[in-house]
Amino acid sequence: MTHARDHFAVWLRDAHAMEVQGATMLRSQIGRIENYPDLRERLQEHLGETEDQAQSLRELMERAPGPQSVLKDVASKLSATAQGLTGLLASDEIVRICTSIYSFEHTEIATYRVLYAAADEIGDGKAVDVLGKIIEQEKAMADWIESYLDGVTRLYLMREERDLIAKR
Ligand SMILES: [Fe+2]
Repeated sequence: MTHARDHFAVWLRDAHAMEVQGATMLRSQIGRIENYPDLRERLQEHLGETEDQAQSLRELMERAPGPQSVLKDVASKLSATAQGLTGLLASDEIVRICTSIYSFEHTEIATYRVLYAAADEIGDGKAVDVLGKIIEQEKAMADWIESYLDGVTRLYLMREERDLIAKR
């Protein structure tokens, strides 16, 4: 039998790896966007939040016993770089960036809902506070990108029609 606290420690570590991966992806996406300044700015803001989240998770990890996993972070960083580069050659890169952010944010929300329930279950009030705040940030980012998808698609198509630089 695995105790709830052990599950929590493992899920926390996985969430941290996810944020490290997220920050790497965001950095490579921000570096590529040229013609969509509003998206670039929002992603820059979320990168700051993501780095703070990773730091908060590290602090929770120090309080929660469980094996450290430096290796996993390194491995996911590499795959994040690869993912961030996915679609580089695609002509519709900007649209692909937006759909990949949309799915990543929703994966994050699900991950934190699980962690939040586990933290509550084991009575870790500090973790509940931290995780609740992170969920709000992820939801805000997910909502923002959802509402952005319609406009960015139309703008992309319009620029393509006029042979403007549309891809990113
Ligand atoms: Fe996020």
